[in-house]
Amino acid sequence: MLVLGIESSCDETSAAIIEAEQDKLTVKSNIIASQIETHRLYGGVVPEIASRAHTEAVARVTREALEQAGCKLGDVGLIGVTNRPGLIGALLVGVNFAKSLAYANGIPLVGVQHICGHMAANYFSEPPLRPPYLSLVASGGHTSLVFAESYTDFRTVGRTRDDAIGEAFDKVARNMGLPYPGGREMDRLAAFGDPEAIAFPSAAISGDNLDFSFSGLKTSVINYLHRLDQKGEPYPMEDIAASFTRSVVTSVIKKLSAAIEELSPAALAIAGGVAANSHLRAAVSALAEEKGLPLYMPPLPMCGDNGAMIAAQAYFDFLAGKMDDCSLNASAVHDL
Ligand code: KG4
Ligand code: ZN
Repeated sequence: MLVLGIESSCDETSAAIIEAEQDKLTVKSNIIASQIETHRLYGGVVPEIASRAHTEAVARVTREALEQAGCKLGDVGLIGVTNRPGLIGALLVGVNFAKSLAYANGIPLVGVQHICGHMAANYFSEPPLRPPYLSLVASGGHTSLVFAESYTDFRTVGRTRDDAIGEAFDKVARNMGLPYPGGREMDRLAAFGDPEAIAFPSAAISGDNLDFSFSGLKTSVINYLHRLDQKGEPYPMEDIAASFTRSVVTSVIKKLSAAIEELSPAALAIAGGVAANSHLRAAVSALAEEKGLPLYMPPLPMCGDNGAMIAAQAYFDFLAGKMDDCSLNASAVHDL
């Protein structure tokens, strides 16, 4: 079966065609139109601008996805679209477009949860990831530890109580004077710094829980920068990036390790934009090896928002009997 996946929850408009046969999934095309250059002018995502840019791009990326996959809309057996959570105006663009395509062409439609979509990026791996497994979802809008009992049953066992991990990377980077989104540049700078240079606080909430708090860590870095400003001293960019990254990664590993002890998963996965971070990937690889667990990490282009991961989750939702119609709506509410 060919599945068309459409994603427009934040600042990337994407459409993809995947081929799905039992649990074997193949990406035929995955077109991503990024709005990052536009939002960079404002230092972050401007929701109204995002909605307009999605409106301009959605038909074009869908056409390109079909062309690159060498198929027509009539060959598509299912349309999946991100309908929650995300920026409401941005989500509505993808949802309304997908509903129109599905209705006009008599194709079944499934609304997809964005975080489940991120986790589904690992279903393309070879051999494929199969539930049950434990996944860290680390993106610009979300930070959760999710236990996937099946392709459609999820239990969130830990989450951030304030900022998301990527949001913390971006806000710290912005205060250091780096352009939006600064996560990737922080990753690069951290490789040249001393991770022990500055003692920033942990983002792991103490006690018997699997939750995080990134706002205290973020504030601590910002205060550190203010103190340097007051003294008129330059920022040791590499050391700040390395020390901040160390604090983030150590916190994540601490809770991930506790979750493994508690849940004894058969496999470990990471997903989301921040899963592209090289320091996080190295630390999670070491943890998986220590625990003797198979580890699944999406290739870098599949970490950020894309239509292929949405198509993958739509396929498994559909197999489990889920189907939506023209009453499908978008929702900004985090429901996982
Ligand atoms: O998953 P994603 O594309 O969007 C959301 O669903 O939120 O994640 C985007 C986030 C941004 O905060 C970006 O700075 C961060 O992922 N990011 C990184 C790296 N690459 C992207 N953060 C740290 N290191 C990276 N290499
Ligand atoms: Zn995302």
